[in-house]
Amino acid sequence: MKVLLVGSGGREHALAWKLAQSKRLEKLYIAPGNPGTAQFGENVDIKDTDVEGLVKFAKGADVNFAIIGPEDPLAAGAVDAFEAAGIKAFGPSGKAAQLEGDKAFAKQIMRANSIPTAESRTFTSFDDAKSYIASRDEAVVVKAAGLAKGKGVFVCDEPSDGILAAEQIMVDRIFGEAGDTVIVEDKLLGQEASILAFVDGRSIYVMETSQDHKPVGEGDTGPNTGGMGAYSPAPIVSDKLMDQIVKEILIPTVDGMNRNDTPYRGILYAGIMLTQGGPRVLEFNVRFGDPETQPILMRMKSDLLDVMEAVCDGRLGDIAIEWDSRPAVCVVMSSGGYPGDYEKGKVISGLDEAGKLSDVVVFHAGTAQKGTEIVTSGGRVLGVTALGDTIADAKAKAYQAVDTISFEGAYCRRDIADKAL
Ligand code: AMP
Ligand code: GLY
Repeated sequence: MKVLLVGSGGREHALAWKLAQSKRLEKLYIAPGNPGTAQFGENVDIKDTDVEGLVKFAKGADVNFAIIGPEDPLAAGAVDAFEAAGIKAFGPSGKAAQLEGDKAFAKQIMRANSIPTAESRTFTSFDDAKSYIASRDEAVVVKAAGLAKGKGVFVCDEPSDGILAAEQIMVDRIFGEAGDTVIVEDKLLGQEASILAFVDGRSIYVMETSQDHKPVGEGDTGPNTGGMGAYSPAPIVSDKLMDQIVKEILIPTVDGMNRNDTPYRGILYAGIMLTQGGPRVLEFNVRFGDPETQPILMRMKSDLLDVMEAVCDGRLGDIAIEWDSRPAVCVVMSSGGYPGDYEKGKVISGLDEAGKLSDVVVFHAGTAQKGTEIVTSGGRVLGVTALGDTIADAKAKAYQAVDTISFEGAYCRRDIADKAL
């Protein structure tokens, strides 16, 4: 099978690493990929949002399966475009991808199907948002409705900060048109879990659980990022809790999407807050999480290509997926300053040495090849991931690998997975 994988982050390196283990993989192209994905296939210089260019390339290269990693091309209808060209594609349709691409749409689906989530209001005028926030004296969460690279959410303990956030999003337009609509919702308290499932339109297969670390600072302080680390499994999600999540959240979402004439196929990722009142949806994503994918795929034993094809063919109910019982921990190394401004082009050393450690894989995210060297080229640079007999063991191995790698300004949180210890 000839596969085109779309994307260039740590998630895509993990997907390429896993797909390369498939006996049925004949050729892997990655567009645009990164120096990590280049170890497993051929990087093709086409932007992940250039849907037309991607489809044209796939036709010319006789690609028979396209796998879309990130949300932007999915929301732009990449899967529809591949299918229109007769190429099987993994992921939801553009309309179904609005579950992530438009948080107002997601709230509507949740409301219509009684899916537990935070109380919210939707605004298209800053003045309305401002008077609503000002009328409240509790903490609020202000969210740009559109796609903002995981940075569009502001958790504000003071209403005045909430007004400032709404102003930045709606008036200063820091996320462009993604902020034309804003959701203001109640702040939920609890621990978070990432629930990722394969969905083929009807059947749901829930993967092993994981937990992300969104804020940049240790102890979950500072602004939100795309994710500073993750571990799997998340012991806080008991079997009983998982049953409840499947019954109250995943099944009604898949059913609701069918009723809405936007049937759902691909990865359904529910970001969940485990509140005292039960699990509540924080957000839906329509793709693998980054960095959750790194530890999850390290633990997956089955052939990912088989599973993805079964999703596309509506045969998910017929297959079994095997998992390594050992936990995995991923620590993200980022450029100093991220998620704000940061410098690029810093030479990374120690990658080979770290990669030689057993049960460790260093997934590239924001890296670039410059001559014979690998340099930084993004905010999240590497996802250093390790399997261990226990979470503590996996954590120790991941940080051992982190400590062999260096680049100017390198930053990582030192408390990844501590919540599970
Ligand atoms: P989202 O992209 O909607 O998942 O939001 C990013 C992060 O913001 C989440 O992972 C939470 O840490 C936080 N967050 C979002 N919504 C809420 C909420 N209603 N209450 C508390 N924290 C939230
Ligand atoms: N790690 C969170 C996300 O992928 O959106």
